[in-house]
Amino acid sequence: MRHGITLSAFLQQEQRLHDLSADLAGVIDDMARAIKQIAHHVSLGALGGVLGNTDAINIQGEVQKKLDVEANDIILRCHETSGRVAAMASEEMDSIYLLPIGERRGDYLLVFDPLDGSTNIDINLSIGTIFSVLPCPRGVTEPRESDFLQPGRNQCCAGYALYGQATILVLTLGRGVVSFTLDRAVGEFILVQDSLHIDTEGHEYAINTSNWRFWEPPIQRYIEECHAGTTGPRGKNFNMRWMGAMVADCHRVLSRGGIFLYPRDLRDPTKPGKLRQLYEANPMALLAEQAGGVASTGRQAILDLLPKTLHQRIPVILGASEEVRLIENYYRDHPIHPE
Ligand code: AHG
Ligand code: MN
Ligand code: MN
Repeated sequence: MRHGITLSAFLQQEQRLHDLSADLAGVIDDMARAIKQIAHHVSLGALGGVLGNTDAINIQGEVQKKLDVEANDIILRCHETSGRVAAMASEEMDSIYLLPIGERRGDYLLVFDPLDGSTNIDINLSIGTIFSVLPCPRGVTEPRESDFLQPGRNQCCAGYALYGQATILVLTLGRGVVSFTLDRAVGEFILVQDSLHIDTEGHEYAINTSNWRFWEPPIQRYIEECHAGTTGPRGKNFNMRWMGAMVADCHRVLSRGGIFLYPRDLRDPTKPGKLRQLYEANPMALLAEQAGGVASTGRQAILDLLPKTLHQRIPVILGASEEVRLIENYYRDHPIHPE
């Protein structure tokens, strides 16, 4: 148990005990610095001048909020001169971000969702930041988009910040999942949990049920059976929660179990899901697996899939292993949807 140590002390221990590279420790430290700055903006609310929309629309076709742009800029600034990352990519940028000319390129690629749960910004509800660190392929000094298109298994590190009552940082380096809380008085992240664990059985699900009519039959079957509770085939009652921010909904799963779903949606055949593989699904999938859970599209492990593009979308079903496996069984009984 290492409760109470700072993030910096934790990273030093990881370097000593597990050969964490100094540069990767530095990337995490830089990310923590960015998160503290974003947390400050978030905490000011309407007083900070960052609520509301910009005039811009991002590559996803969504109107950018001021805080989406601000958070994106903060993260870029905290990493671009460190010499630790070679390039970055984010939900809010059409293409990859190459470092300014003259800056040293490091060994890592950073991908992030600067502000997750954007529709919650203006109503003072939970929002977060999601990030993932990939190795920059050997010998590559000028990364291209194709260098980012790696399966989630390649991630060296994944994590998120949740700007809730407290700002927390949840992290995996591939050796379990740890959680830190920001002590604002001293500006340090303090370790509060050193092995988050998702129980194999779950009693709580998170899904946007307004999409019911667009779901595939395996998802309709699973949710119908949850609704039936003790009177249905599951023989137990379920609870439902939906925050509308993946970070918040997945954090609940990592904290007290259950399952999170944003499944394939038949509204638009060109979009095999809503969430983006590189900076939403992959980091959460690694965290879920590292906490003993399962992360699946319904048919395959999310972490095994090669993204085709930077902003690739993917179905996400993650959390309690028995629940996710049950849904995978329902998918096995169902014909494959043509790509
Ligand atoms: P973002 O704000 O980064 O665009 O992500 C929003 C995502 C995710 O956080 C959440 O789970 C989902 O959108 C909510 O979607 P609905 O509005 O369809 O419920
Ligand atoms: Mn998001
Ligand atoms: Mn976002």
